[in-house]
Amino acid sequence: MRSPIPDYLAEVLRAVESDDSGATADYIPELAAADPDRLAVAIATLDGEVYAVGDASVEFTIQSISKPFAYALALTDRGFDGVLDKVGVEPSGDPFNEVSLDDTGRPFNPMINAGAITAHSLVGAPGVGPDLRFERVVAGLSAFAGRPLSVDEAVFASEMTTAHRNLSIAHMLRAYGVLTEDPVAVVEGYTRQCSLLVTATDLALMAATLANHGVHPRTGARVVSEAVVRQVLSVMTTCGMYDAAGDWVTQVGIPAKSGVAGGLIGALPGQVGIATFSPRLDKHGNSVRGVRLFERFSDDMGMHMM
Ligand code: DON
Repeated sequence: MRSPIPDYLAEVLRAVESDDSGATADYIPELAAADPDRLAVAIATLDGEVYAVGDASVEFTIQSISKPFAYALALTDRGFDGVLDKVGVEPSGDPFNEVSLDDTGRPFNPMINAGAITAHSLVGAPGVGPDLRFERVVAGLSAFAGRPLSVDEAVFASEMTTAHRNLSIAHMLRAYGVLTEDPVAVVEGYTRQCSLLVTATDLALMAATLANHGVHPRTGARVVSEAVVRQVLSVMTTCGMYDAAGDWVTQVGIPAKSGVAGGLIGALPGQVGIATFSPRLDKHGNSVRGVRLFERFSDDMGMHMM
């Protein structure tokens, strides 16, 4: 019998299609030029089935959705104490690109840019150079996706021309001893990480790997440990949607992460990985139609954690 899921997903996409509120990210020239009408959803079950509807095979840059996965690699490579020493786990209540440190001199959490730049610097063994570190980032995120990912060099170059805010954050981190190496090289590595190309289907499988406690549902590879996944999903729950995290947790109730290219993932432990793609963003930098889609899924399928 044919599954009713694709028809349901197509109907939910149709319901949000006419919503053209919000705008593509304007601080990265290459993203401002993206087709704002793209719309996709993909749902990956833990037995490796993927239901994908709309523009689910269109590639776009992962942006901040890379943050929980790079954090997972940093925890794996440096241990919990090694990472917690440098990046906290408290929601900041501020926008994602806030130039801020907590009262212990660490970035608040690894989902805002300050914490994500720091987490990027903690991937790989101590003393690893930027090239080998980036190889580890690509290999690690590719293992989460279950296929080799590559960088959109045009988006990378475009973001570097306007990366003044991230560069200022990295210089602040270096000045406070949170970063111990060249801040410019770290921002380049972090920006490359954000420029990895993915599809909604890739993101659904990456989310499903988290939902499956660290084992990829298709390749069967253990990508990270269960303890690392627990830490990552906890931080996604409290900080993944930035200063909209409270609204998100109460209304949708799924550990999640958004990206400024319009991607959005949710990982429901033991159940499912979901990804949406729609480039117009709200004032928090989260996809407008993506948030609406997740609200529908959560209501229709009783996905709220509580
Ligand atoms: O660092 C930045 O500003 C971007 N590369 C990523 C920001 C982002 O995706 C925020 N999320 N919604």
